[in-house]
Amino acid sequence: MSQRTIAIVEAKPQNFFEVADVHCQAFHPKAPWPLNKLLRADRMLALAFPITESDKSTRQMNLVAVESVGTFPLIFERIVGSVTIATVCEEKGTYVEKRRRRESPPPANQRLGIAYVSNVAVKSEFRRQGVARQLMAEAERKAREDWRCKTAALHCDGQNEAALGLYTGLGYTRLSCEPAWIPYVRLRPAVRLTLLMKRLRD
Ligand SMILES: CC(C)(COP(=O)(O)OP(=O)(O)OC[C@H]1O[C@@H](n2cnc3c(N)ncnc32)[C@H](O)[C@@H]1OP(=O)(O)O)[C@@H](O)C(=O)NCCC(=O)NCCS
Repeated sequence: MSQRTIAIVEAKPQNFFEVADVHCQAFHPKAPWPLNKLLRADRMLALAFPITESDKSTRQMNLVAVESVGTFPLIFERIVGSVTIATVCEEKGTYVEKRRRRESPPPANQRLGIAYVSNVAVKSEFRRQGVARQLMAEAERKAREDWRCKTAALHCDGQNEAALGLYTGLGYTRLSCEPAWIPYVRLRPAVRLTLLMKRLRD
């Protein structure tokens, strides 16, 4: 009998094309050609060349949800979701941007305390099946047990009901919403980001 399972594993370089596809489908579903191709290439590069630090204490990991269908020896696998965790936060959960990290990295003890969660994405045909919850549970376990992080932090579009439902259901608390002018100054789409945090251990 054919079996279907979902496993959460660390992404390998050969997975990056598929992961980029998951990201683009989730975050830029309506991007027209050739922008969609450029965005995929951009995602691939970001996955292949993650945060470069002068201080090597920053950690980053991409986890993927892999669906396996079939029985041995005919097993078909595909990536259906992803999440990134990294220690790139200051004490209050503020994300430290790449340029600022390079110029004046916050002390390692602060960065190691908070795991920053990003790129939470699930292919549309696999949504509402608990995939994101599984990805988040594994990301939190890695941060808590392997990295000894005390807290997880993330930013989310304040209008994204699905994501807010996911995070609040997992115990994240909404802490603050950025002022409306920030997206304009940072040349981002007009989306106000909400900071959410969760205690992982005492
Ligand atoms: C947000 C997203 C990752 C959720 O993935 P998912 O695999 O469908 O989530 P799960 O099935 O694990 O759902 C867990 C909980 O999240 C909440 N949730 C998920 N989708 C929801 C929706 N469309 N509406 C309301 N609540 C939703 C529910 O509380 C759900 O629990 P329930 O199914 O028991 O009610 C997915 O919708 C997605 O990829 N969206 C596009 C990318 C994105 O917005 N990412 C978040 C960036 S901050």
